Amino acid sequence: MAVINIGILGLGTVGSGVMNIFQENRERIREYTGVDIQTKKVLVRNMSKPRDTFFENGTLTADPQEVLNDPEIDIIVELMGGIEPAFSYVLQAIENGKHIVTANKALIATHYEELFKTASQNGVEIRFEGSVGGGIPVIDTITARLAGNRIDEIVGIINGTTNYILTRMSKDGMGFEEALKLAQDKGFAEADPTSDLNGQDVSFKLAILAAISFGIGIEQKDIPYEGITKIAEDEISYAMESGYTVKLLATARKREDKLEIYVHPTLIPNHHPLAAVSNEFNALFIRGNAVGELMLYGKGAGSLPTGSAVVGDILDIVKLKRKSAKTGSRPIANKEDLRIIGEDTGSYYIRLQVIDEPGVLGAITTVLGKNGISIASVSQQALGQKDVPVIFVTHKVKREKLDKGLEELRELKDIVKEVACILRVEGY
Ligand code: NDP
Ligand code: HSE
Repeated sequence: MAVINIGILGLGTVGSGVMNIFQENRERIREYTGVDIQTKKVLVRNMSKPRDTFFENGTLTADPQEVLNDPEIDIIVELMGGIEPAFSYVLQAIENGKHIVTANKALIATHYEELFKTASQNGVEIRFEGSVGGGIPVIDTITARLAGNRIDEIVGIINGTTNYILTRMSKDGMGFEEALKLAQDKGFAEADPTSDLNGQDVSFKLAILAAISFGIGIEQKDIPYEGITKIAEDEISYAMESGYTVKLLATARKREDKLEIYVHPTLIPNHHPLAAVSNEFNALFIRGNAVGELMLYGKGAGSLPTGSAVVGDILDIVKLKRKSAKTGSRPIANKEDLRIIGEDTGSYYIRLQVIDEPGVLGAITTVLGKNGISIASVSQQALGQKDVPVIFVTHKVKREKLDKGLEELRELKDIVKEVACILRVEGY
């Protein structure tokens, strides 16, 4: 049987998942591809770390050049994470004529233009299914299955760590730190979880989704993002009492020649399908002009689910090589002339920490009213403390108007101690 050699950069959560899948499903994979896929080299940082997988002598290495320059390796699978040195290694591999599979959203979102241009010049393929939605075939669905559609909207939960934390906080009353530790132990979080928690990981994924869905080259830094770091027990209790669930949503929606795109924690009504997406599960709602509404659901993080996406990409390339075919799939499928407008309008939940004295609410509502921010409901959650939380829910308002109003509120330093949390509210 013919042999195809792969080289793997990184043997952490996802790399180990890939190895497990190749071990467990070896016969099935051989039958499907008609070749024997062998792992020739595996790059790690720390050679003395105990590993679950057994490798023959000389397979594990801490020298990237042993992997990147091995003439017998056809496919490089990058599972290290981060932008550097992953980018330099992947670029070198492409220049050496190797196909690339990666689950690294930071890398793809930041450098896709150069990567795909170089890949095209060198006649090699890049696959990145694991970079968005873990085990859910999001990229393939949009770029191939829905290729005959114009995509108008994508909204989803695309970070497993934060969804896991929010689920544990609301279902078990667990604290933020404890829930984060559990998500890390389960291998969902990034090496530095800041990127999960502050929404940046979602913004990388959303940049990739926007590129493949709307044919728009958007840089991650141009996507406004907000994570879950400001979500406290107050938000969880308010949501539970009011028939809502707090979720971190990624949204990209066409409005004529504009693209509204942002990442924001959001209150969604309990009857909404995304409210039922719990733990590390992800879900992506897609609206296409032919298919209508579609929802993809599955495990968005973790060793085997993400390994499944990575293995699928490797098999895809193996099949292409065997047939000498090329799909030429690119993040930017067809350029569209869209103006990016970030976050446009919405209904908002705002928690202010204020001093509990007469006239405070009046002063606040005056500022909101002056800025055209109409209040749908207001509630004060505690009595008798120095600073108390006051929660406003607004009617629909332009985000820039809201921000201006909140800026003025922050200036009322004697009465408004903090603008503690802002959530979008869907279905209000
Ligand atoms: P881990 O931190 O678990 O593993 C990273 C691996 O890369 C380790 O084996 C590490 O070596 C190796 N590594 C890191 N830096 C270097 C370096 N400079 N030189 C050599 N080896 C290095 O990461 P994950 O497996 O969780 O994530 C990998 C990628 O997959 C990331 O891009 C992540 O965003 C993405 N991803 C992760 C998912 C998940 O559920 N975890 C889901 C979807 C995508 P050593 O073992 O010696 O420390
Ligand atoms: N840290 C990421 C998450 C991994 O929690 O969703 C999957 O991309």
